[in-house]
Amino acid sequence: MDTQTPPPHVLVFPVPLQGHINAVIKLAELLAVAGFKITFLNSDHNHERLVKFTDIAAHFGRYPGFELRTITDGLPQEHPRSGDWFLGMFEDATEMKIKQSLRDMLVNITPPVDCIVGDGFLGFVLDVAKELGIPIVYYRTSSPCSFWAYYSIPDIIQAGELPIKGSEDMDRLITTVPGMETYLRCRDLPSCCRVTDVEDPIIRLVAKQTLKSPQADALVLNTAEELDGPILSQIRTKCPNVYAIGPISAQLNTRLKAKHGESYHPFLNSLWEVDKKCISWLDQQPNRSVIYVSFGSITSMSREQLVELWSGLLNSKMKFLFVVRPNSVIGKDVEAEDVVRELHEKTKDQGYIVDWAPQEEVLNHPAVGGFLTHSGWNSTLESIVAGVPMICWPYFADQQVNSRVVTEVWKIGLDMKDVCDRKVVEKMVKDVMVDRKEEFSNSAAEMAKVTNQCVNVGGSSYTNLDRLIEDIRVMSMKTPPKILV
Ligand code: UDX
Repeated sequence: MDTQTPPPHVLVFPVPLQGHINAVIKLAELLAVAGFKITFLNSDHNHERLVKFTDIAAHFGRYPGFELRTITDGLPQEHPRSGDWFLGMFEDATEMKIKQSLRDMLVNITPPVDCIVGDGFLGFVLDVAKELGIPIVYYRTSSPCSFWAYYSIPDIIQAGELPIKGSEDMDRLITTVPGMETYLRCRDLPSCCRVTDVEDPIIRLVAKQTLKSPQADALVLNTAEELDGPILSQIRTKCPNVYAIGPISAQLNTRLKAKHGESYHPFLNSLWEVDKKCISWLDQQPNRSVIYVSFGSITSMSREQLVELWSGLLNSKMKFLFVVRPNSVIGKDVEAEDVVRELHEKTKDQGYIVDWAPQEEVLNHPAVGGFLTHSGWNSTLESIVAGVPMICWPYFADQQVNSRVVTEVWKIGLDMKDVCDRKVVEKMVKDVMVDRKEEFSNSAAEMAKVTNQCVNVGGSSYTNLDRLIEDIRVMSMKTPPKILV
C-alpha cells in the first residue's frame, strides 16, 4: 500500500444478535489485519455484554484506528430481548430512529467513512449508504441456500407453491427455487414460509430485505465455492459481485496464526459467560465418544422438549455435553432452572451441562464425535471445519434449509426436523455415534479437508478475501467527498 494514502475507513454494522455479530466481527478483524481503519458499530445493549464477558477492547486495541461505537437497537435497556425481538427493529418508527442515528453518525464521523460493510439483512443501512453516496458491501451471515430460498419467495408464491396447505403438504417438493428442485420440500423452506397467509409481515420483511441485495456494490457470503458452488452460481445471476470467503472463522484463524504463530488465541466473542470447565470434563472422555448438544443463541424450547431431548440422550447411553442457555427454556426462570438442575443431578455420570460453552474448542476436541445442533449457520460451518457429523433439529429462519443441505446434499448427518421424541433422539444419536459412525465420520472428515483447504493460501476463500480487500480499497478511492446534510 502507498504509505502516503491513509487506509480506507470501513464502518462495519451487524444485526445485533450473537450469530450475526460472530460472523461480522470476524470480517471486521480480517479487514483490520489488512490495515484498514475499522469502526465496528454494535447495539448499546450488546456492546455492554461484550465488554462484560470478553476482552473486546483489549483485543481490538491492537489494531490502529479500530474503534468500537454503539447505536440504539430501538428498545429500552431493560427489555429482555428474547425470542424474535429483533424483528421489532424493522417496525417503521424504530427503523426510522435507528436510520436517523446512523445517518447522524456517518455525517459527523472523522475521518469520513469510505465504505460500509452492512449486515445483508439491514436494508435500511443500504438506504442510508445510497443517500450519502458511500459504497456498501452487504455481508449476509446466513447460508447461501437460505439466501437463495428467500430470494425466490416471490417466484414460489407466484407459482402457487405457497402457502403450504397443512401438515400433510409438508413433504411436497418445491420446484421454483432454481438448483434446489430435487431436494427442497415445503418442510425445508425457511420458517417464515410456514405462514398461512403469504401477505404475512414476516414473509414480506424477509423477502424485502433479501431482494435489496443486488443494489449493494458487493455481496459477501460465509461459505466456500467448494461447499456451495451450484447455489453460488444461481445467486450470481442476480448479484454478480459475490465473494465467498468462508468459513470465516477458519479464514481468520489461518491468517492470524500465519501472522502471530500457532499459540495465538482468537477473540472469543460471547454474549454469555463461557464455562471452560467442560473442557476438563471432555479431557477425561475417550476419543469421539461424546455428543455435543447446543442450539445457539436464540432457540427456545418447552420443558417437555428439553425432557424429551434429555431422555433420548440418556437412553442412547452415550456421553453428552449439553448447553442449556439461560432463558432458553420457556416458562418461569425458577421453574426452568429447577428442571435443568434435576436433569443434571439425575444424569451426572453420563452428561455434563453448561450455560454456555467455548463451542469451537468443544467441536475441535478429540472426545467429541457428534453434534446435535439447531443448524444455525455458524454452528453448521464450525462443525464442518471440525469434521463433526451433525443431528439437525432446526428451530427457525435459515435453519430449516441448512439442515436439509447438511443431510441430503452433503450427507454429513441426519435431519430431526419437526420431531422431538425421545425414541427418535435415541435412534439418531446411536446412528451417528455407533451404528453408522464410520459412514458419517468419513464423509465429515472429507468435507472438513476440502473446506479447510479453501482458507489456506491459494484456496478459493483465501483468494476471494484478497480480492474483496483490494476491491474495497478501490471503491474507497472513488468515494466522493461527503456532502453534509
Ligand atoms: C442466528 C441464526 O440462528 C442462524 O441460523 C443465522 O445463520 C445466524 O443467526 P444462532 O441461532 O445464534 O444465530 O446460531 P449460530 O449461527 O449457530 O451461532 C451461534 C454461535 O454461538 C456460534 O458461533 C457458536 O460457536 C456460538 N456458541 C453457541 C458458543 O460459543 N457457545 C455455545 O454454548 C453456543
